[in-house]
Amino acid sequence: MPTKAQSKKPWSGRFTESTTSLVEEFTASVAFDKRLYPFDILGSIAHATMLAHVGVLSMEERDAIIDGLGKIGTDIEAGQFQWSEDLEDVHMNIEAELVRRIGEAGKKLHTGRSRNDQVATDLRLYLREETDLLIKALGDLQTVLLDIAEREFDTPMPGFTHLQIAQPVTFGHHMLAWFEMLARDRERLSDGRSRINRMPLGAAALAGTGFPIDRGITAELLGFESICENSLDAVSDRDFAIEFTAACALIMTHLSRMSEELILWSSPAFDFIELGDGFCTGSSIMPQKKNPDVPELVRGKTGRIDGHLLALLVLMKGQPLAYNRDNQEDKEPLFDTVDTVTSCILVYAGLLMSMTIKRHRMSAQATQGFSTATDLADYLVRKGIPFRDAHEIVGKAVHHGIETKKDLCAMTLAELQSFSPLIAEDVFSVLSLEGSMASRNHIGGTAPGQVLKAIGRARKRI
Ligand code: ARG
Repeated sequence: MPTKAQSKKPWSGRFTESTTSLVEEFTASVAFDKRLYPFDILGSIAHATMLAHVGVLSMEERDAIIDGLGKIGTDIEAGQFQWSEDLEDVHMNIEAELVRRIGEAGKKLHTGRSRNDQVATDLRLYLREETDLLIKALGDLQTVLLDIAEREFDTPMPGFTHLQIAQPVTFGHHMLAWFEMLARDRERLSDGRSRINRMPLGAAALAGTGFPIDRGITAELLGFESICENSLDAVSDRDFAIEFTAACALIMTHLSRMSEELILWSSPAFDFIELGDGFCTGSSIMPQKKNPDVPELVRGKTGRIDGHLLALLVLMKGQPLAYNRDNQEDKEPLFDTVDTVTSCILVYAGLLMSMTIKRHRMSAQATQGFSTATDLADYLVRKGIPFRDAHEIVGKAVHHGIETKKDLCAMTLAELQSFSPLIAEDVFSVLSLEGSMASRNHIGGTAPGQVLKAIGRARKRI
């Protein structure tokens, strides 16, 4: 009961009735998988080249195919290609058009191949490219962080644990913490790339093919670093896509944590930074508002990627070998993951560059929170007092500070000596923010000198 004129299906030989239009619509994927077209064409060109090399196609047939596919690619790029839903997916659309344009030779392209190994190949080529773009974009974002860290290498800010003021750190050090999160994200993408970059082509539908194919040639033409060893596995597993999405979920987790801090810092309650006007929006009712919508959206989009990761895991878990149509459902989550993560990373570089750092506000806050209490305890330890006793003594001094509304460094020497006679004039260099930060002078510590050294090492890692 088809209602519209249908294209002839490549499998129509075995059928007496045509697909109902509802099913046609239900099974079609071309609306979203057409974005794979450059990789589909590359894969087909490599396949035809290999088939000619082993004598399955003539050189003339190969040339006609390559020429036809090239022209189809140009037309698609120019927006002059008529995609048709009744040809189901990107693969059949392109193949049908090739046959329409070059005739007999076009019909031979699918020799020794199936859409099962074709789609797995296209997807891997696509993800390989997107992985490289993401690695590059993350590197650019890391450079922005290093530039800020360099500018603020000795800017004091309160460091927090439990969101309570803990110890002073430099703002540069904080930026380097973000740098490290993204560095691991980049490592994860590079590592996963080697498992993406394996070639399924040649697995055909599931068992391989009887034609004398040479998979080494195809792999080399397509830049794959190795060949999937087992045909059943090659066409069926999407673990490489799951791994990629997991790496993206972690990127988003990191961006979301960064966003949470930017949102807090730009709130008047903290007032540590101001985000550029170009990256904020106002309120339609409250004239005073300047809202951090960009980091909020990044934080919100994180949930979306976590959802995609779960969708792919669940998609895979019940599938027996080998290919099942379930796998067509891998594309939309994957494509949205790529689009979302890419846009978040790109917007983040600009967002961070737009940020004004309110140095005096951060120093003032760091001074107010007894953030050098540990330094005083360490000072007493150096004078011979066991750490637990020193902790107790400083606790009393802090209690006194709360009652008199004075930070430790604002107390007189006599006041401090009332807690321990071992305290001397030299204590004040320890109680200042600068003294406290400078004392953490080792690899990974917050001392401004160490931050500069860490930036130097970090630049070499990008
Ligand atoms: N559109 C399909 C997919 O995304 C292509 C493979 C279809 N293979 C098949 N035997 N029906 O997985």
